Amino acid sequence: MTRVLSCIQPTGVVHLGNHLGALRNWVSGQHEADVFHGIVDLHALTVTDTPGVLGRQTLELAAMLFAVGLDPDVATVFVQSHIHEHSELAWIMECTVSFGELSRMTQFKDKSAKREADFVSAGLFTYPALQAADIVLYDAEEVPVGDDQRQHIEITRDIAIRFNHRFGDTLVIPKAVHPAAGARVMDLQDPAAKMSKSASSDLGIVYLTDDNSAIERKFKRAVTDSEGVVRFDRDSKPGVSNLLEILAACTGGNPSDLAGHYQQYGPLKADTGAAVIALIEPIRTRYNELLQDPAELARLLAKGNDRARAVASQTLARVHSAIGLLPRA
Ligand code: AMP
Ligand code: TRP
Repeated sequence: MTRVLSCIQPTGVVHLGNHLGALRNWVSGQHEADVFHGIVDLHALTVTDTPGVLGRQTLELAAMLFAVGLDPDVATVFVQSHIHEHSELAWIMECTVSFGELSRMTQFKDKSAKREADFVSAGLFTYPALQAADIVLYDAEEVPVGDDQRQHIEITRDIAIRFNHRFGDTLVIPKAVHPAAGARVMDLQDPAAKMSKSASSDLGIVYLTDDNSAIERKFKRAVTDSEGVVRFDRDSKPGVSNLLEILAACTGGNPSDLAGHYQQYGPLKADTGAAVIALIEPIRTRYNELLQDPAELARLLAKGNDRARAVASQTLARVHSAIGLLPRA
């Protein structure tokens, strides 16, 4: 079976865009490949300096990953900082990538520019070396990522190829794959922008933790247009098309076909809200149950951590031996 790895940072509450665009595919994908999913708290550390926050967010994200349907007996869900091999291999990856290569990373340029007046950690700069370690530690063959991560997979390949060239064939060379087209969910208040945790208002974002009345309210207030005709046309009718696309993603229909069922915006908003509630309500219930049962959550995570560590420790040992570091007596 193909080994597939994808990771997510514990940096905020999961929203409908994350679910329909990514997590839902993780759940269906767990039966098609040997999947590893890391909650990469050490990556989040590059932009975190408040004590106590990361651990809580890691736990919440773990609860959400199990709540949406990742099965701990099938998918390997692990916490990056619980597997010390990530940090250890990251150093070796740092010594296998050049300063120049890291300097060309567009994500580093963007993020450091945005933090201009803020603290720019060296970790933000060496971030791709840690990401490369995440990937090669598990002999991942495929890494499903969005466009924004392509460059990070490219540099991982370059690092792994260079390592193998220097020290002999040791690391599996991964490739980026485009995840099966998930829905692209736009902000309900600003349908020209992707639904994103960095949006200025929560009114446009549907969180998987929102209660039913909050979801209803957000859909009722969703921005549409003044034409008054229900049609699927992303360019000239972004708000209405977003509702149709969300409805389609929840019910398994097709946005253009669904448009034919509606004459007015009100019923479309109500039905889309109801479809989202039907999707999210059982997830939210399971999520709350898990958060109230930290022992169970720890047990589920331990399963993934144990499987992850078994693979990671072997890879790191292989790397040490390829380099020829002096074995511990
Ligand atoms: P982020 O935390 O923004 O990096 O997103 C985590 C995952 O969710 C990525 O795989 C994104 O592709 C996906 N995602 C985030 N926002 C959306 C959105 N509005 N629509 C669809 N997918 C999204
Ligand atoms: N850099 C990725 C992001 O910001 C997260 C990530 C870390 C990742 N390690 C990874 C993704 C390994 C895929 C594989 O979304």
